[in-house]
Amino acid sequence: MKRVDRRTVLKIAAAGLGAVSIQSVELAAQEAELPFGAEFPNLDSLTTGRWWTKGATAEQGGNANGKPKPRAGGTAPPSMEVPRNEVVAFAVYTSDHGVLKMSTQLFPLKPDEERVARLELWRDDRWTEAARAEVLYPGWDAHFRLEPWDATRDVRYRVRHGDEASFEGLIRRDPIDKDEIVVANMSCNSSRTTGQRSEIVENLKRQDPDVLFFAGDQTYRHTEHTAGWIEFGLQFRETTRDRPTITIPDDHDVGHGNLWGENGKRSTLPGGADGGYHYPVEYVNLVQRQQTWHLPDPVDPRPVERGITVYFTRLRLGGIDFAVLEDRKFKSGPAGKIPQMGPRPDHINDPAYDPQSIDVPGLQLLGDRQLEFLRTWGEDWTGAEMKAVLSQTAFCGAVHMHGSRDARLLADLDCNGWPQSGRKQTLEALRRVRATHLCGDQHLAVVVKHGISEFGDGPYAFTSPALVNTIYGRWWHPADEQPGPNPVPDSRLPWTGDYFEGLGNRISMLAYANPADINDEKQRADGYGICRFNKQTREITFECWPRFAHAADDSRQQFPGWPVTFSVDANDGRKPIGYLPEVSLDGLTNPVVQVIEQATGEIVSTIRVRGNRYRAPAYTAGKHTVKIGRDRPDAKTYVDLLPQATAAAGVTRGP
Ligand SMILES: [Fe+2]
Repeated sequence: MKRVDRRTVLKIAAAGLGAVSIQSVELAAQEAELPFGAEFPNLDSLTTGRWWTKGATAEQGGNANGKPKPRAGGTAPPSMEVPRNEVVAFAVYTSDHGVLKMSTQLFPLKPDEERVARLELWRDDRWTEAARAEVLYPGWDAHFRLEPWDATRDVRYRVRHGDEASFEGLIRRDPIDKDEIVVANMSCNSSRTTGQRSEIVENLKRQDPDVLFFAGDQTYRHTEHTAGWIEFGLQFRETTRDRPTITIPDDHDVGHGNLWGENGKRSTLPGGADGGYHYPVEYVNLVQRQQTWHLPDPVDPRPVERGITVYFTRLRLGGIDFAVLEDRKFKSGPAGKIPQMGPRPDHINDPAYDPQSIDVPGLQLLGDRQLEFLRTWGEDWTGAEMKAVLSQTAFCGAVHMHGSRDARLLADLDCNGWPQSGRKQTLEALRRVRATHLCGDQHLAVVVKHGISEFGDGPYAFTSPALVNTIYGRWWHPADEQPGPNPVPDSRLPWTGDYFEGLGNRISMLAYANPADINDEKQRADGYGICRFNKQTREITFECWPRFAHAADDSRQQFPGWPVTFSVDANDGRKPIGYLPEVSLDGLTNPVVQVIEQATGEIVSTIRVRGNRYRAPAYTAGKHTVKIGRDRPDAKTYVDLLPQATAAAGVTRGP
C-alpha cells in the first residue's frame, strides 16, 4: 500500500481550493481502498475507499449497489453521506492542568473536499480561529490540543470544515467551586437498537453532570468502528457538546466479544481467550485514537507489543482526581494458562473447583505499569480532594445468570475478579487512597462493597447498567435465593449482603437491577448511573436511573435499591487495632497524610485529611512512619509511632 505524505496533503489542502481539488483526487486514488490490508476488507468498509458508493441507511436495508452491507444484529448504521454543511458530526473534549484536548469526528469526506478541520473560540465578541488539524484517514477524525488553557472560564467553541459545516458547543470551566461533582456512569450502547437516545439524553441534560464517563461498548459494530463511533456521537452529542467526556473502548469497540489484551499480542483463538487482539494494530489504534485521543496525555505513553498505543491517564475535575485505567490491555488470557474446566477456557461451572487453582503466579490483571501508575497517582493529591478510578469492568463477578434467565454460570474470567491476586493488588491500591470505582461492561447494574481479606474491608464500586440492552441480559440470583449475612437493612431487594462470588472473592451486594423481562424494551433494566461526589459532606451517592425514567421529576423512579450513599472514608473498611499518637499537621490546611508500616515499608494509606491535628488508624502492631505535606507527603516526617489502644480503637471503623 502506498502511503501518502500527510504533511504535504495538509499543506496543499490549506493552500487553496484549486490545488486541493487536483491533489485530493490524486489523494483519493492513492488512498487505500483497503487500509487494513487485503486480509481485512471488511474493516471500516463503510468509510474507506469509494465509501460513497457503499452508503446504506437503516431505512434502505441495503447498500447502493444492492450488495450486502455490514450489520450489527440486523441493523445498519446511519448513512455516512450527509448534506455537506453537516459533515462535522460531533466533538468530545477534556481539560486538565492547563491543557485542552478535543477530538472532532467528521463524516467521511469526498475526494475534492479539504482534509482540514478548524477549531474556533468565541473571544472578545467574535469567533477566532484557535487551531487547525488534519482530518485523518482512515477514521475521519481530527485532534486539537491547546496549551496553555485557562480553565477558569466557560468558552464557546465551534469546529468547522470548509465554508459550510460547523459544530458548536461549550468548553466548561473547571467546576472547582462546586460542592458536588456529578459524574454520569454509562456503558454498553447496543447497536441493535438504532436511532436517537432521546429518553436518556433528555434526562442527562436535566441532571446536568459535570463529566460524562462512557466505560466501553459505545458501539457493537465490531468491524465498522468509524461508522459506529459516528452513530454513538449522533446519539449523545447533545450531552457531550457542552461538557467534558471520558470515553474508553472495551471489547466490542475493537471488534471482540471478550478481550484479554495480553500486552498487545495477536490473538488467533476464536473468542480471544488466548490473549491479544484479533484485528490489525492499525485498526486497534484507530479505535483508541478516536475514543481516547481527547483524554489528558497518557501518563506512560510507551506502546505495548506491536506498537499498540496506550491511553491510561489521570483527569482532575472539580477537585475529583480520576485515574482512567485500561483493565483489558495488559490482562492475561486464560486459555492454556489455567486448567480448563468446561467447554470454554473462560467459563467455569464446576461447583467443586478450587478458585485458588486458577490464580496462577505470573498472571497479569492491570500489569506492572498501571500498578506503578496507581502508586504514583495515589501519592499525589495536587488539585484533589477525593479520588476515583474508572475502568471498563468490575473487580468481581457479581452475576449469576448470563444471557438468559436460567443460564447459570459459576465464574466468568472476562471480569476483573480474575486473576484474584491482581484483583487484590488493585483493590488495595484503591483502598489506600479511599478511591471509589466506576465501571460498566456487565449489563447488570450493581453496587458492591469489595472485601479483600474480610467482608467490607475494601472500596465501594458501581457497575453501570447497559445504556440500551438489546444484546445480553444478566441477573443476580443466588442459587439458594437467600440474602447473605449483613443484608442491607430494609432493602427492597431480597438478595443483598455478604457473598463469595464464583471466583471466591468476597463482595457485599448492596444493590442490583435485574431485568424483569428482556423481551419487553421497557423492562430490560437498562439505563445509566449518576455518581455524586460531595466535597463538603465527604459523601458519595450512587443513583441508578432506568432508561425510560422521568428522572428530574421523581427520584423514586430509580431502580429499587438506589440511591446508595456512603462516606468516602468507608472506602477503607479495615478495622483498626489502634491509633497512632496524634500528630500536628504543622499549620497546613487539609494536608496529605501518609502512613507507612516500618517493618515492611508498605504504605498503609495516603489521604487528604481535615483539621490541624490527626490520629491515624493502624491495622498492625509495630512502628509506623507518618509523612505530611500540602499535596504530597513530603514536608514533615514522624517516625517510630506505635499504635495505642484507645477508647476509639474499640470502634470498628476508622475516623
Ligand atoms: Fe457490553
